[in-house]
Amino acid sequence: MTSEFTSRIASLYRLVRPLLFHLDAETAHHLAFRLLAVAQPVLARRHAYSSAALRQDLWGLTFPNPIGLAAGFDKDARLPRAWAGLGFGYAELGTITAQAQPGNPQPRIFRLASERALINRLGFNNAGAADAAARLSRLDRAQRHIPLGINIGKSRITPIERAVADYRECFRVLAPHADYIVINVSSPNTPGLRDLQGQQHLSELLTALQDDNARLPQRRPLLVKLSPDMADDDLAAAVATIEALRGDGIVATNTTVRRDLLAQPTAEAGGLSGAPLRDLATHTVRRVHQLSGGRLAIIGVGGIFSAEDAYEKLRAGASLLQVYTGFIYQGPSLPIDLCRGLERLLQRDGKARVADAVGTDA
Ligand code: FNR
Repeated sequence: MTSEFTSRIASLYRLVRPLLFHLDAETAHHLAFRLLAVAQPVLARRHAYSSAALRQDLWGLTFPNPIGLAAGFDKDARLPRAWAGLGFGYAELGTITAQAQPGNPQPRIFRLASERALINRLGFNNAGAADAAARLSRLDRAQRHIPLGINIGKSRITPIERAVADYRECFRVLAPHADYIVINVSSPNTPGLRDLQGQQHLSELLTALQDDNARLPQRRPLLVKLSPDMADDDLAAAVATIEALRGDGIVATNTTVRRDLLAQPTAEAGGLSGAPLRDLATHTVRRVHQLSGGRLAIIGVGGIFSAEDAYEKLRAGASLLQVYTGFIYQGPSLPIDLCRGLERLLQRDGKARVADAVGTDA
């Protein structure tokens, strides 16, 4: 059944992809999104791909498999019922900001097809926290087949000195609807945002959000998403701060501003994702695992296109994984392809479950 489903969507994508890739990248995204919206009622009846080997239990949540949809694809939490149906073990919605905002002028997403990469400078275009919360509040428990994380960011109009209040507002509105929350301080497309990764700012932000978290009837796992471009000292300071303030984990990584990773450098500004980011992101996962002595859970993301890529990030220390750019290039069968491939690799290495592979090459 799953096999038949995967080959059907894979063939469908082979037909549709040339059309999508002919369009400007953002138009293609909207069209693909519309197709998924049409398919959502059918997808919502399907469960995530799962097996005893792939299941991960973390923070009191059960992930049917470790492959998640990365933040930025479903920015406004519009298709929360579709993602499990494509096989994903969880989805991270957002980035959502306290205020609705249009983002940067278009064009602002660029395909670098020969490098299997994207550059984006969207700038957190989204309809705001209240809009997403209203939509998610209409979703009942039975419709949530997989954990749904929410990624929150700073509104562009909010100056950095008032960032804490802005994130708190976002957290207040959205945390009740989230299975976990990610504090995004690493997008390169909001001026000054990455300064919040510095020890002082990060410590203030995390302290405030942990206070709010403690007041919820049930506290939410709170993670921080980091950039792959931090100097090692800064990364070490951020990891120490997150551990000291009892953060539940780190998402490593966001997009990079480096261009030397490209075979054909481009002057286009924004965050680079996809294949060229893979090794840098894996390196960051490994460093976070080393720096925290394996105590912080890591979501590994950046340049995953194959089960081998996914397995490498698990062995470097990630407990969960996410994809974005690979999903664009490989198509909607990617989550299930990665799950099947991971099962094969685990079996090859005599490992009963994903958890047995985490950090074995850190
Ligand atoms: C992103 N990413 C992202 N991350 C985030 O925390 N909030 C966001 O709103 C977005 N938006 C976004 C838009 C687009 C078009 C892309 C390509 C990426 C980053 C994403 O979640 C991920 O961290 C990186 O893209 C690296 O993973 P991949 O794409 O190499 O699998």
